[in-house]
Amino acid sequence: MDTGHPDIGVSAPPRLMDVPDWVYLLREFDVLYRHGSAGGSPVIRSHRKRVRDRLSATFARNPEILDRFPERKPVTAHFARALDVGERGAMQGMARALREIRDWLTWEYGYEKMPRSLAKKYAYCEVLGPNGPVQCDDLILGFVLFAPDTTYPQHHHKEIEESYISISGAWSENNAAVYAPGSLILNRAGDEHRITTGDRDPCLLAYAWVGPAERLSAPGMKLSGGKARV
Ligand SMILES: [Fe+2]
Repeated sequence: MDTGHPDIGVSAPPRLMDVPDWVYLLREFDVLYRHGSAGGSPVIRSHRKRVRDRLSATFARNPEILDRFPERKPVTAHFARALDVGERGAMQGMARALREIRDWLTWEYGYEKMPRSLAKKYAYCEVLGPNGPVQCDDLILGFVLFAPDTTYPQHHHKEIEESYISISGAWSENNAAVYAPGSLILNRAGDEHRITTGDRDPCLLAYAWVGPAERLSAPGMKLSGGKARV
């Protein structure tokens, strides 16, 4: 993998501990899921524990960093602004760590069919998971980026529990509240959810997916009838 670090040899794939920028980024996830609050919710507390236990096991395993080709999408034109706003807020540690690996991110849609309007305003990148770049079978960590004034259609995730932590920007889920950087939302497996974002700035969310390895390796994301389903 071209890690951008000239000291890493090309013959042997680097392992996690060989590349400090990835280690520091994952440590920011660990801090969020270890020291953040569960808000008194036992369900959120146990989700947070599952995420950090699987992340700790990944650190202990020191997996290879898999080769992923960096890719951009139209929404990544908003990424610099999202990081800038993020670096001035409560999630500045994560925003700064993410800035250091910004050139190595693979931005994706995930869906076979994308509505044209959403294709301009949404993309996600994985930083840890079955497909890498940091290899892990039972946890996916990544980021989703939305342009200002975006609606991410209603969907749910079969067998996968999902949490979002806001890094930059304001957003709402199911019209229930407005969330700021640092807020965490848990969508349990099967929970329907729909996201909208504020109209002035982009919104950058960190996310964690916990589920069975078979499901995480092939989540089969689909859009149909205006609804996104996994
Ligand atoms: Fe979701």
